[in-house]
Formats: sequence, C-alpha cells, structure tokens
Amino acid sequence: MSFLLRILEEQPFRLFVRSLIKRLPVRVRSLERWDAVDRPHYLCGILAAADLAQSSGVDSIYIIEFGVSQGKGLLLMQAYAQMVEQETGVGLKVVGFDTGIGLPSTAGDYRDHPDKWKAGDYPMDEEWLRARLLPTTELIIGDVHHTVPQFVKRQRWPLGFVAVDIDLYSSTRQALQVFCFPQSRMLRRVFLYFDDIMLPESHRFAGERLAIEEFNAKNQTVKIDHWYSLRDRIFRDHRWIQQMYVAHDLRAINAHQAELQEWAV
Ligand SMILES: C[S@@+](CC[C@H](N)C(=O)[O-])C[C@H]1O[C@@H](n2cnc3c(N)ncnc32)[C@H](O)[C@@H]1O
Repeated sequence: MSFLLRILEEQPFRLFVRSLIKRLPVRVRSLERWDAVDRPHYLCGILAAADLAQSSGVDSIYIIEFGVSQGKGLLLMQAYAQMVEQETGVGLKVVGFDTGIGLPSTAGDYRDHPDKWKAGDYPMDEEWLRARLLPTTELIIGDVHHTVPQFVKRQRWPLGFVAVDIDLYSSTRQALQVFCFPQSRMLRRVFLYFDDIMLPESHRFAGERLAIEEFNAKNQTVKIDHWYSLRDRIFRDHRWIQQMYVAHDLRAINAHQAELQEWAV
C-alpha cells in the first residue's frame, strides 16, 4: 500500500476521505471498506458472506435479520443485498423474523433483562413495511420459537449472514437454533452481528451474551466466536467491530480438509 494511502486511512484524514467516498459513485467494496453507509456492520457481513459463497461455489445464500420492528434494518439489508448481488453475482435471499407485535414478556426472568425491556416494546406497522419490501425479501411473522423450526424445514440455501437484534436471552437462544437442526444448512463460516451486547446493562449472565455462551457449551459441531480479523479495518476502533462474530461449522471444515487430502493423494 502506498504511503499516501496509509496516511489517508489514519486520523484525522480518514473522516474526510469517508465523507468524500459517500458522495462519489464508488463500488460497493469501497463503501464497505470505508464504512460509508448507515449500517457498516450489515454491509460488512453481507459482503463477506457473498465472497465466501462465491469462493465455495455456492450460488445463493440467506441473509437474515432476527428482530425487525419498524423495518429500518431490514430495508437497509435488502438495499445492501442488491448492491452485493450485483458485485458478486451471488443470489442473496433476505429474510426478516419478528412477532409483529413487539417484544414478548420479559417478566420474572433476569436473563431477559426486564431492567431494560418490557413486553410490547418495538411494535411493527406490518402493512407499511410490506409495501416497501422487494418481492425477493421475506418477512416471517410469529414467535421465533415456532417460525425458526418451520423455516429450517423448508430452507433452500445455506445461511451466510445473520443479524441478531431480538433483544431477549430467550429469543436469541431460540434464534441461534437456526444453526442446530439436523436439516440446517450454512456456509462453513456464517457472519453474525449481535446488537445488544454492549449496553450498560449487558453482562455474560443474561441477554444475547448468555445465549452465545450457552450455544457454545451445548454445541459440538458449530461454535460462535469473535470475528477477529476485523481489527485490521480502517475504522477498527468503532464499537460494531466488537459486535461481529462468526459461526464456524466444524464439520464442514473437517470435510473440506478431507477433500483436500483426497486431492493430494
Ligand atoms: C429492537 S427491535 C429490532 C429493531 C430492528 N432490527 C431495526 O434495526 O430497526 C427487536 C425486535 O425483536 C422482536 N422479537 C423479540 N423477541 C422475539 C421473538 N421471540 N420472536 C420474534 N420476534 C421477536 C420484537 O418484536 C422487536 O420488534
């Protein structure tokens, strides 16, 4: 990398370059590299998933948002998916999961953070949202306790990126089951964003953090860990970097290794 480029990527110049990039008709990879969009964490995960799908010979993948509410995130997700689809040629099927009526009850269980949320928070105007969704975006209404098992049964493509913004421990635990059913399909690495792990109320004995810990303790074949290589990004000090994880499919990594050994013989 040239010396000048390295200088431009450091403070204070990087803010100036980013505002310039936002105004220029640049490729989606530049938008992603410079965090020049409203939700860089979504674009970063979607692009990484599409790149992995492409290098693995997979033609379509799912991009999921757990917890949709008014749909701000889902609408951005479908817009980013369109750009990334154009860039990579990988088909991106956007799916949002929500009750449609806001949060379920949090009463009586500290793990669901009743100190932060109550039943009915974040309702949805379903008609308004559906009118803005592309025909290829799917909105699945209902409690994830029912909708996730149903989705997995009819899942057609592997998972590539999952944004978890479903707030509660109980809901997150269920959402993560999307990786656990025998029929579940995933890329060998699925990129994840967790929205509610950096709040003043957050700790690892409740909420999304506890759901991740329990997932790892119970599952031998899929493990969720931090996405460490993001620490090399231009805006590496931004908070969302710490909210990005990767679900590693250990079976697929073993199978890949076995394939490589077969070829080597
Ligand atoms: C903070 S809001 C999501 C905000 C949205 N991601 C955005 O970017 O604007 C959390 C959502 O999670 C949904 N949710 C929580 N628990 C759920 C469950 N068990 N099943 C389905 N949806 C659930 C709620 O209905 C609520 O709309």
